[in-house]
Amino acid sequence: SINVNDPTLISLVNKLQDVFSTVGVHNPIDLPQIVVVGSQSSGKSSVLENIVGRDFLPRGSGIVTRRPLILQLINKPASPETNGDKKVETTDSESNVDEYGEFLHIPNQKFYDFNKIREEIVRETETKVGKNAGISPAPINLRIYSPNVLTLTLVDLPGLTRVPVGDQPKDIEKQITDMVLKHISKPNAIILAVTSANQDLANSDGLKLARQVDPEGQRTIGVLSKIDLMDEGTDVVDILAGRIIPLRLGYVPVVNRGQRDIENKRPIAYALEAEKAFFENHKAYRNKASYCGTPYLARKLNLILMMHIKQTLPDIKARISSSLQKYTSELSQLGDSLLGNSTSIIMNMITEFSNEYRTVLEGKSPELSSVEL
Ligand code: GDP
Ligand code: NA
Ligand code: MG
Repeated sequence: SINVNDPTLISLVNKLQDVFSTVGVHNPIDLPQIVVVGSQSSGKSSVLENIVGRDFLPRGSGIVTRRPLILQLINKPASPETNGDKKVETTDSESNVDEYGEFLHIPNQKFYDFNKIREEIVRETETKVGKNAGISPAPINLRIYSPNVLTLTLVDLPGLTRVPVGDQPKDIEKQITDMVLKHISKPNAIILAVTSANQDLANSDGLKLARQVDPEGQRTIGVLSKIDLMDEGTDVVDILAGRIIPLRLGYVPVVNRGQRDIENKRPIAYALEAEKAFFENHKAYRNKASYCGTPYLARKLNLILMMHIKQTLPDIKARISSSLQKYTSELSQLGDSLLGNSTSIIMNMITEFSNEYRTVLEGKSPELSSVEL
C-alpha cells in the first residue's frame, strides 16, 4: 500500500527496536510527530487519512474535526497463525484480524472495523462538545495497532476559522490558534501546512502559523490540496518552483477525495489512482508528475524520518554503550553462580546485538545508506 509506512523503514526500525530491547533500552527511537495545520476544510483530515492508507477519519465541509485527534500508530507483528491474512466480518472491506484500533476513553475494546472507529470519533466529539459546532482542546486518543505501520504519532486538528458559528465561543479564532500552536511548537513536530490551491497562498493560515514556530522552515512541508478544483488555465507551478513563498522542504500538490466521493464511499485505492491519472494527464504537471501527489508526500515524510533516525543514532550509541558496560559487569559479578549454559546464551545475545548495531551505525545497512534528501 502507498503510505508513510514504507516497508523498508518499518523493518529497519523494528530491527533496531528489537536489538535495543535485548539490552534493556526500550523505545530508543522517538520518531517525530506529524501534525496537520490549515484553514477549515482545506483537506487536513483527508491528507492524513491518505498518508495512513485507511479510511477512518470524519471528513466533510464545515467544521468536522472539533477536538484534536492524537493518533498513535503502533507496529505490532501479525500473529503467526494469521500472518496478516485473516479477514474479520465487518462493514469495512479492508478489515483484518491483525489491524485494530483502541481508544483511550474505552479501554480494552478492540475496533477491527475502521468505519466503527470513525463513528466513535464522531460520538466522542459530540459527547464532549455537542452537535452544534462546539470545539474543545481536550484530545481524543486513538491507537492503531498493525504490522503495516511505523510506530509514529499523527495529530489531526480543528481548522483555523475566524467567525464563530453555532455553539462556538466568541474568541474561536484565538482558541483554535492556541490549540494548533501548542501542537506544532514541539520541536520534534513535522508540520504539514495544508492550503487549498484555489485560495491565495499569501493568505494561508497554516503557513502563517507554521512560520511562527518554524521561521527557518526546517520542519514545515507545504501541502497544496484541491488542485482539481482550480480554475481552468491556472496552476501551482510557480509555487512548486519556490517563486511565491519558498519553503526549504518544498510543496507537494495533492488531489484528495471530494465531497461526492465521500458520500459515495469511494475507497482510498480509487482516490490514489484518480490522483495519479490527474497529474499525469494535466499539461502543467505531466513533466513533473513524480513530484506530485500523495505517494510523493509519503516518500518525502519517509526521508525526513530516515534523517531523524540517522541524527538520533549517536545519542542512542551512548546509551547502548553504557547499558552494555552495566550488563558486562553484572555478568562478571554473577560469574560462577550462573549455569554456564545461560551465561553463553546471554553472551550470544549481546554479541548478536553488537554486530547488528555496528552494521546500522556504520552505515552498512542498505536501508540507511540509501538515504538522501
Ligand atoms: P479539513 O476540514 O481540513 O480536515 O478538511 P477535510 O479533509 O474534512 O475536507 C473538507 C472537504 O473538502 C471535504 O468535503 C473533502 O471531500 C473536500 N476535499 C479535501 N481535499 C480535496 C481535494 O483535494 N479535492 C476535492 N475536490 N475536494 C477535497
Ligand atoms: Na472540514
Ligand atoms: Mg478535519
